[in-house]
Amino acid sequence: MATQDELKKAAGIEAAKLVQDGMTVGLGTGSTVRFFVDELGRRVQEEGLKFTGVTTSVRTKEQAEGYGITIVDVDDVDRIDVTVDGADEVDDRFDGIKGGGAALLWEKIVATNSDKIVWIVDESKVVSTIGKFPLPVEVIPFGAGQVVKLFEKKGYKPVLRLDAEGEPVRTDEKNFVVDLHLERIDDPQGLAEDLIHTVGVVEHGLFLNMVDTVIVGDENGPRVLTN
Ligand code: A5P
Repeated sequence: MATQDELKKAAGIEAAKLVQDGMTVGLGTGSTVRFFVDELGRRVQEEGLKFTGVTTSVRTKEQAEGYGITIVDVDDVDRIDVTVDGADEVDDRFDGIKGGGAALLWEKIVATNSDKIVWIVDESKVVSTIGKFPLPVEVIPFGAGQVVKLFEKKGYKPVLRLDAEGEPVRTDEKNFVVDLHLERIDDPQGLAEDLIHTVGVVEHGLFLNMVDTVIVGDENGPRVLTN
């Protein structure tokens, strides 16, 4: 039986086949994307692949630059041809949750400037109803406690994400992350509207009606699903 890492790696290698010379490619964040970037790095070094990357986190930028991949700022490109990213959960409409690695804000900005969005996941991420994975919400530190109280009143079961030292986790934009332990989300669109209109919220981890292709690493090899 394949390990979860082997399934993630298979999905990452499959996604790397989509990248061709001259493309501008959005590079997501997370343990699955690491395998994707490793494979791109191999192609750059062994096959002379030439493309430009736009990264969604400092971590991914450092990894990609380590392979000699050219990275440019999202504001310096007209359009991104394709973005490949991981996900924490995805349903059969390709709606999903992201932000387990606290990179949701940059990930969503890169995604919304991309012609095509591909998610790479292992089979454990595919669900019928999203919400079991706690929904990350990025909030401004000033007044974050008040946002948490508001979410409590609404029954969203918020937990401020802390690091190993007990300090609030900071995103690449130095914001906090509040995880909503909802168990299931029956109305993702309604919840997204509510969250984005909450003062102090910068962005939430619901990615709805955005994804074109999901590549699932499963026991029988990567499955490429298109919308
Ligand atoms: C980063 O904030 C996230 O959106 C990741 O893309 C997501 O958590 C998937 O990460 P893994 O590939 O590590 O599961």
